[in-house]
Amino acid sequence: MAIARIVVNIADAPSYDVRVGTDIVESIGGYLREVNSSDTALIVTDGHVGPLYLDSVKASLAEAGYRTLDITVPAGEDSKSLAVAGEIWSAMANLKLSRDVLVVALGGGVVGDLAGFIAATYMRGVAFAQVPTSLLAMVDSSVGGKTGINLDQGKNLVGSFKQPVCVCADTSVLSTLSEREWACGCAEIAKSAVIDSDEFFFWLTDAAPLLAARDENTAAEAIARSVVFKANVVAEDETESKGVRECLNYGHTLGHAIEALAGFGTFSHGEAVAEGMRFAARLGVACSSTPTDVVAAQDELLDELGLPSLAFSAEPEAVLDAMKGDKKVRGGQVRFVLPRDIGRWEVAEIDDAILLEHLGAWARSKEV
Ligand code: GLY
Repeated sequence: MAIARIVVNIADAPSYDVRVGTDIVESIGGYLREVNSSDTALIVTDGHVGPLYLDSVKASLAEAGYRTLDITVPAGEDSKSLAVAGEIWSAMANLKLSRDVLVVALGGGVVGDLAGFIAATYMRGVAFAQVPTSLLAMVDSSVGGKTGINLDQGKNLVGSFKQPVCVCADTSVLSTLSEREWACGCAEIAKSAVIDSDEFFFWLTDAAPLLAARDENTAAEAIARSVVFKANVVAEDETESKGVRECLNYGHTLGHAIEALAGFGTFSHGEAVAEGMRFAARLGVACSSTPTDVVAAQDELLDELGLPSLAFSAEPEAVLDAMKGDKKVRGGQVRFVLPRDIGRWEVAEIDDAILLEHLGAWARSKEV
Protein backbone atom coordinates (compact mmCIF):
# COMPACT_ATOMS: atom_id res chain seq x y z
CA MET A 1 0.00 0.00 0.00
CA ALA A 2 1.35 3.46 -0.89
CA ILE A 3 1.90 5.79 2.03
CA ALA A 4 -0.36 8.86 1.90
CA ARG A 5 1.22 12.16 2.93
CA ILE A 6 -1.11 14.90 4.07
CA VAL A 7 0.36 18.29 4.94
CA VAL A 8 -1.10 20.26 7.84
CA ASN A 9 -0.48 23.98 7.26
CA ILE A 10 -1.11 26.18 10.26
CA ALA A 11 -0.52 29.93 10.13
CA ASP A 12 1.69 30.38 13.19
CA ALA A 13 3.39 26.98 13.38
CA PRO A 14 5.65 25.01 11.05
CA SER A 15 3.67 22.80 8.69
CA TYR A 16 3.88 19.04 9.30
CA ASP A 17 3.07 15.79 7.58
CA VAL A 18 0.60 13.11 8.51
CA ARG A 19 1.72 9.82 6.98
CA VAL A 20 -0.89 7.10 6.60
CA GLY A 21 -0.01 3.58 5.45
CA THR A 22 1.32 0.19 6.45
CA ASP A 23 4.58 -0.78 8.16
CA ILE A 24 5.45 2.77 9.21
CA VAL A 25 6.34 1.82 12.79
CA GLU A 26 9.36 -0.24 11.69
CA SER A 27 10.72 2.79 9.81
CA ILE A 28 9.67 5.47 12.26
CA GLY A 29 13.24 6.63 12.95
CA GLY A 30 13.73 7.56 9.30
CA TYR A 31 10.46 9.52 9.14
CA LEU A 32 11.28 11.44 12.31
CA ARG A 33 14.85 12.17 11.21
CA GLU A 34 13.48 13.92 8.12
CA VAL A 35 11.92 16.56 10.39
CA ASN A 36 13.84 16.49 13.67
CA SER A 37 17.51 16.63 14.65
CA SER A 38 17.30 15.84 18.40
CA ASP A 39 19.89 13.54 20.01
CA THR A 40 17.41 11.95 22.39
CA ALA A 41 13.88 10.61 21.89
CA LEU A 42 11.68 10.01 24.92
CA ILE A 43 8.89 7.61 24.03
CA VAL A 44 5.76 7.88 26.15
CA THR A 45 3.51 4.85 25.85
CA ASP A 46 1.06 2.83 27.94
CA GLY A 47 0.86 -0.64 29.42
CA HIS A 48 -1.22 -2.00 26.50
CA VAL A 49 0.64 -0.52 23.55
CA GLY A 50 4.20 -0.64 24.92
CA PRO A 51 4.50 -4.45 24.95
CA LEU A 52 3.30 -4.56 21.32
CA TYR A 53 5.33 -1.83 19.59
CA LEU A 54 7.88 -0.20 21.92
CA ASP A 55 10.77 -2.47 20.94
CA SER A 56 10.26 -1.89 17.19
CA VAL A 57 9.96 1.87 17.66
CA LYS A 58 13.09 1.98 19.83
CA ALA A 59 15.07 -0.12 17.36
CA SER A 60 14.11 2.11 14.45
CA LEU A 61 14.86 5.31 16.39
CA ALA A 62 18.24 3.93 17.48
CA GLU A 63 19.04 3.03 13.89
CA ALA A 64 18.30 6.64 12.96
CA GLY A 65 20.81 7.83 15.57
CA TYR A 66 18.55 8.68 18.50
CA ARG A 67 19.41 7.83 22.10
CA THR A 68 16.11 6.32 23.24
CA LEU A 69 14.41 6.55 26.61
CA ASP A 70 10.90 5.45 27.45
CA ILE A 71 8.21 5.93 30.03
CA THR A 72 5.18 3.64 30.29
CA VAL A 73 2.05 4.95 31.98
CA PRO A 74 -0.95 2.81 32.99
CA ALA A 75 -3.43 2.36 30.11
CA GLY A 76 -6.64 4.35 30.47
CA GLU A 77 -8.07 7.80 30.96
CA ASP A 78 -6.79 8.05 34.56
CA SER A 79 -3.29 8.63 33.20
CA LYS A 80 -4.37 12.00 31.81
CA SER A 81 -3.84 13.48 35.27
CA LEU A 82 -1.72 16.08 36.99
CA ALA A 83 -0.16 13.30 39.10
CA VAL A 84 1.05 11.34 36.06
CA ALA A 85 2.15 14.52 34.27
CA GLY A 86 4.11 15.47 37.41
CA GLU A 87 5.84 12.08 37.47
CA ILE A 88 6.89 12.48 33.84
CA TRP A 89 8.16 16.05 34.30
CA SER A 90 10.19 14.89 37.33
CA ALA A 91 11.57 11.85 35.50
CA MET A 92 12.63 14.09 32.61
CA ALA A 93 14.32 16.53 34.98
CA ASN A 94 16.05 13.65 36.83
CA LEU A 95 17.30 12.38 33.48
CA LYS A 96 18.63 15.89 32.84
CA LEU A 97 16.79 16.08 29.52
CA SER A 98 17.35 19.38 27.78
CA ARG A 99 15.13 21.38 25.43
CA ASP A 100 16.59 19.32 22.62
CA VAL A 101 14.60 16.17 23.51
CA LEU A 102 11.95 14.81 21.13
CA VAL A 103 8.88 13.42 22.93
CA VAL A 104 7.27 10.58 20.95
CA ALA A 105 3.66 9.73 21.84
CA LEU A 106 3.14 6.03 21.08
CA GLY A 107 -0.46 5.11 21.83
CA GLY A 108 -4.08 6.18 21.57
CA GLY A 109 -5.73 9.47 22.44
CA VAL A 110 -4.83 9.39 26.14
CA VAL A 111 -1.11 8.96 25.48
CA GLY A 112 -1.18 11.53 22.66
CA ASP A 113 -2.93 14.17 24.79
CA LEU A 114 -0.70 13.51 27.82
CA ALA A 115 2.62 13.33 25.96
CA GLY A 116 1.69 16.39 23.90
CA PHE A 117 0.95 18.30 27.10
CA ILE A 118 4.31 17.23 28.54
CA ALA A 119 6.03 18.39 25.35
CA ALA A 120 4.13 21.69 25.45
CA THR A 121 5.20 22.42 29.02
CA TYR A 122 8.58 20.79 29.80
CA MET A 123 11.14 23.61 29.70
CA ARG A 124 8.40 25.75 28.11
CA GLY A 125 8.12 23.45 25.14
CA VAL A 126 10.04 20.71 23.33
CA ALA A 127 9.40 18.92 20.04
CA PHE A 128 6.96 16.04 19.86
CA ALA A 129 5.76 13.47 17.38
CA GLN A 130 2.52 11.51 17.33
CA VAL A 131 2.45 7.78 16.60
CA PRO A 132 -1.26 7.06 17.07
CA THR A 133 -2.20 3.42 17.54
CA SER A 134 -6.01 3.63 17.72
CA LEU A 135 -8.37 4.44 14.85
CA LEU A 136 -9.85 7.26 16.94
CA ALA A 137 -6.44 8.86 17.50
CA MET A 138 -5.49 8.48 13.81
CA VAL A 139 -8.60 10.23 12.51
CA ASP A 140 -8.97 12.88 15.19
CA SER A 141 -6.89 13.47 18.30
CA SER A 142 -3.38 13.09 16.85
CA VAL A 143 -3.97 15.86 14.30
CA GLY A 144 -4.49 19.51 15.14
CA GLY A 145 -2.45 20.01 18.30
CA LYS A 146 -4.95 19.76 21.13
CA THR A 147 -3.15 18.40 24.19
CA GLY A 148 -4.13 18.26 27.83
CA ILE A 149 -5.02 16.49 31.03
CA ASN A 150 -8.20 16.04 33.05
CA LEU A 151 -9.12 17.47 36.44
CA ASP A 152 -11.57 15.92 38.89
CA GLN A 153 -13.96 18.65 37.73
CA GLY A 154 -13.92 17.58 34.07
CA LYS A 155 -12.07 16.29 31.03
CA ASN A 156 -9.37 18.29 29.23
CA LEU A 157 -9.72 21.29 31.53
CA VAL A 158 -5.97 21.99 31.48
CA GLY A 159 -4.01 21.91 28.26
CA SER A 160 -2.35 23.67 25.42
CA PHE A 161 -2.27 23.79 21.64
CA LYS A 162 0.98 22.13 20.61
CA GLN A 163 1.46 20.97 17.05
CA PRO A 164 3.57 17.84 16.48
CA VAL A 165 6.53 17.76 14.10
CA CYS A 166 4.99 14.74 12.39
CA VAL A 167 2.11 12.24 12.73
CA CYS A 168 2.81 8.65 11.69
CA ALA A 169 -0.38 6.60 11.37
CA ASP A 170 0.55 2.97 10.72
CA THR A 171 -2.61 1.10 9.75
CA SER A 172 -0.91 -2.26 10.40
CA VAL A 173 -1.21 -1.67 14.15
CA LEU A 174 -5.00 -1.45 13.96
CA SER A 175 -5.37 -5.24 13.73
CA THR A 176 -5.15 -5.57 17.52
CA LEU A 177 -8.09 -3.22 18.21
CA SER A 178 -11.31 -4.67 19.62
CA GLU A 179 -14.55 -4.37 17.61
CA ARG A 180 -15.67 -1.70 20.03
CA GLU A 181 -12.51 0.37 19.61
CA TRP A 182 -12.89 0.06 15.85
CA ALA A 183 -16.48 1.31 15.90
CA CYS A 184 -15.37 4.12 18.20
CA GLY A 185 -13.00 5.43 15.52
CA CYS A 186 -15.67 4.94 12.84
CA ALA A 187 -17.92 7.40 14.70
CA GLU A 188 -15.38 10.20 14.27
CA ILE A 189 -14.96 9.24 10.60
CA ALA A 190 -18.75 9.46 10.14
CA LYS A 191 -18.77 12.82 11.96
CA SER A 192 -16.11 14.15 9.58
CA ALA A 193 -18.00 12.91 6.52
CA VAL A 194 -21.33 14.49 7.54
CA ILE A 195 -19.68 17.84 8.24
CA ASP A 196 -17.28 17.79 5.29
CA SER A 197 -19.11 17.14 2.04
CA ASP A 198 -21.50 15.09 -0.07
CA GLU A 199 -18.47 13.54 -1.72
CA PHE A 200 -16.98 12.18 1.55
CA PHE A 201 -20.41 11.20 2.91
CA PHE A 202 -21.49 9.23 -0.16
CA TRP A 203 -18.06 7.61 -0.46
CA LEU A 204 -18.33 6.52 3.18
CA THR A 205 -21.91 5.31 2.74
CA ASP A 206 -20.71 3.03 -0.09
CA ALA A 207 -17.54 2.02 1.78
CA ALA A 208 -19.22 1.42 5.16
CA PRO A 209 -19.59 -2.39 4.85
CA LEU A 210 -15.88 -2.74 3.98
CA LEU A 211 -14.85 -0.29 6.69
CA ALA A 212 -16.95 -2.16 9.25
CA ALA A 213 -15.28 -5.39 8.05
CA ARG A 214 -11.92 -3.66 8.65
CA ASP A 215 -10.69 -3.87 5.08
CA GLU A 216 -7.19 -2.36 5.21
CA ASN A 217 -7.32 -0.27 2.02
CA THR A 218 -10.73 1.12 2.89
CA ALA A 219 -9.55 1.98 6.39
CA ALA A 220 -6.46 3.74 5.04
CA GLU A 221 -8.61 5.80 2.68
CA ALA A 222 -11.12 6.65 5.43
CA ILE A 223 -8.25 7.76 7.69
CA ALA A 224 -6.64 9.84 4.94
CA ARG A 225 -9.96 11.51 4.04
CA SER A 226 -10.65 12.30 7.70
CA VAL A 227 -7.15 13.72 8.14
CA VAL A 228 -7.50 15.91 5.02
CA PHE A 229 -10.80 17.22 6.40
CA LYS A 230 -9.32 17.89 9.84
CA ALA A 231 -6.15 19.45 8.39
CA ASN A 232 -8.28 21.92 6.43
CA VAL A 233 -10.33 22.81 9.50
CA VAL A 234 -7.33 23.39 11.79
CA ALA A 235 -5.51 25.32 9.06
CA GLU A 236 -8.38 27.81 9.16
CA ASP A 237 -8.87 27.89 12.92
CA GLU A 238 -6.11 26.29 14.98
CA THR A 239 -7.32 27.50 18.38
CA GLU A 240 -11.09 27.19 17.88
CA SER A 241 -11.42 30.97 18.07
CA LYS A 242 -12.76 31.72 14.58
CA GLY A 243 -15.92 29.63 14.68
CA VAL A 244 -14.60 26.99 12.25
CA ARG A 245 -12.95 24.30 14.43
CA GLU A 246 -16.16 24.15 16.45
CA CYS A 247 -17.62 22.00 13.65
CA LEU A 248 -15.48 19.13 14.99
CA ASN A 249 -17.74 19.12 18.04
CA TYR A 250 -20.67 17.73 16.00
CA GLY A 251 -22.30 15.03 18.13
CA HIS A 252 -20.16 15.93 21.13
CA THR A 253 -22.63 18.12 23.09
CA LEU A 254 -24.93 15.21 23.94
CA GLY A 255 -22.03 12.76 23.56
CA HIS A 256 -19.99 14.28 26.39
CA ALA A 257 -23.09 14.49 28.60
CA ILE A 258 -23.82 10.78 28.01
CA GLU A 259 -20.21 9.84 28.85
CA ALA A 260 -20.38 11.84 32.09
CA LEU A 261 -23.85 10.65 33.15
CA ALA A 262 -23.30 6.98 32.34
CA GLY A 263 -19.87 7.12 34.02
CA PHE A 264 -16.73 7.48 31.88
CA GLY A 265 -15.92 4.17 30.25
CA THR A 266 -19.49 2.81 30.27
CA PHE A 267 -19.84 3.80 26.63
CA SER A 268 -16.92 4.45 24.33
CA HIS A 269 -16.39 8.05 23.20
CA GLY A 270 -17.47 7.05 19.69
CA GLU A 271 -20.67 5.34 20.87
CA ALA A 272 -21.62 8.48 22.77
CA VAL A 273 -20.71 10.78 19.86
CA ALA A 274 -22.75 8.65 17.43
CA GLU A 275 -25.78 9.00 19.72
CA GLY A 276 -25.06 12.72 19.91
CA MET A 277 -25.03 12.92 16.10
CA ARG A 278 -28.42 11.19 15.91
CA PHE A 279 -29.82 13.69 18.43
CA ALA A 280 -28.21 16.76 16.81
CA ALA A 281 -29.54 15.85 13.36
CA ARG A 282 -33.08 15.53 14.77
CA LEU A 283 -32.63 18.84 16.60
CA GLY A 284 -31.51 20.29 13.28
CA VAL A 285 -34.79 19.23 11.65
CA ALA A 286 -36.72 21.04 14.40
CA CYS A 287 -34.48 24.09 14.87
CA SER A 288 -32.57 24.51 11.59
CA SER A 289 -33.01 23.55 7.96
CA THR A 290 -31.83 19.93 8.26
CA PRO A 291 -33.81 17.77 5.78
CA THR A 292 -35.32 14.62 7.30
CA ASP A 293 -33.51 12.46 4.73
CA VAL A 294 -30.20 13.53 6.33
CA VAL A 295 -31.41 11.98 9.59
CA ALA A 296 -32.31 8.73 7.81
CA ALA A 297 -29.07 8.58 5.79
CA GLN A 298 -26.95 9.27 8.86
CA ASP A 299 -28.86 6.67 10.95
CA GLU A 300 -28.27 4.09 8.22
CA LEU A 301 -24.56 4.92 8.03
CA LEU A 302 -24.08 4.69 11.79
CA ASP A 303 -25.98 1.39 11.93
CA GLU A 304 -23.78 0.02 9.14
CA LEU A 305 -20.63 1.09 11.03
CA GLY A 306 -21.67 -0.87 14.12
CA LEU A 307 -22.93 2.16 16.04
CA PRO A 308 -26.60 1.44 16.77
CA SER A 309 -28.78 3.82 18.73
CA LEU A 310 -27.71 3.59 22.40
CA ALA A 311 -29.84 1.85 24.99
CA PHE A 312 -29.37 4.75 27.40
CA SER A 313 -31.38 7.70 28.52
CA ALA A 314 -31.44 10.08 31.46
CA GLU A 315 -33.72 12.70 32.92
CA PRO A 316 -33.71 15.75 30.61
CA GLU A 317 -32.77 18.05 33.51
CA ALA A 318 -29.75 15.88 34.37
CA VAL A 319 -28.61 15.89 30.74
CA LEU A 320 -28.99 19.66 30.52
CA ASP A 321 -27.03 20.04 33.74
CA ALA A 322 -24.22 17.84 32.38
CA MET A 323 -24.18 19.86 29.15
CA LYS A 324 -23.84 23.08 31.12
CA GLY A 325 -20.76 21.69 32.88
CA ASP A 326 -19.01 21.27 29.53
CA LYS A 327 -16.27 23.75 28.67
CA LYS A 328 -17.94 24.50 25.33
CA VAL A 329 -20.86 26.33 26.97
CA ARG A 330 -20.76 30.10 26.45
CA GLY A 331 -22.68 32.57 28.59
CA GLY A 332 -24.64 29.68 30.13
CA GLN A 333 -26.08 28.71 26.72
CA VAL A 334 -25.70 25.19 25.40
CA ARG A 335 -24.30 25.20 21.86
CA PHE A 336 -24.94 22.54 19.23
CA VAL A 337 -23.36 21.94 15.87
CA LEU A 338 -26.36 21.25 13.63
CA PRO A 339 -26.07 19.78 10.13
CA ARG A 340 -28.00 22.15 7.85
CA ASP A 341 -27.40 19.47 5.23
CA ILE A 342 -24.58 17.06 4.43
CA GLY A 343 -21.46 19.26 4.18
CA ARG A 344 -23.20 22.34 5.64
CA TRP A 345 -23.41 23.15 9.33
CA GLU A 346 -24.12 25.88 11.82
CA VAL A 347 -23.64 26.41 15.53
CA ALA A 348 -26.89 27.15 17.35
CA GLU A 349 -27.43 28.22 20.93
CA ILE A 350 -30.50 26.29 22.00
CA ASP A 351 -32.81 27.74 24.58
CA ASP A 352 -33.07 25.57 27.73
CA ALA A 353 -36.85 25.08 27.45
CA ILE A 354 -36.62 23.91 23.84
CA LEU A 355 -33.70 21.67 24.65
CA LEU A 356 -35.54 20.08 27.58
CA GLU A 357 -38.48 19.36 25.28
CA HIS A 358 -36.22 17.58 22.76
CA LEU A 359 -34.31 15.73 25.47
CA GLY A 360 -37.68 14.56 26.80
CA ALA A 361 -38.61 13.19 23.37
CA TRP A 362 -35.17 11.53 23.14
CA ALA A 363 -35.61 9.88 26.57
CA ARG A 364 -39.15 8.69 25.67
CA SER A 365 -37.88 7.18 22.40
CA LYS A 366 -35.73 4.87 24.55
CA GLU A 367 -38.68 3.57 26.58
CA VAL A 368 -40.08 1.20 23.93
N1 GLY B 1 -11.31 16.68 18.57
C1 GLY B 1 -11.76 17.97 18.28
C2 GLY B 1 -10.66 18.90 17.88
O1 GLY B 1 -9.53 18.49 17.65
O2 GLY B 1 -10.91 20.06 17.80
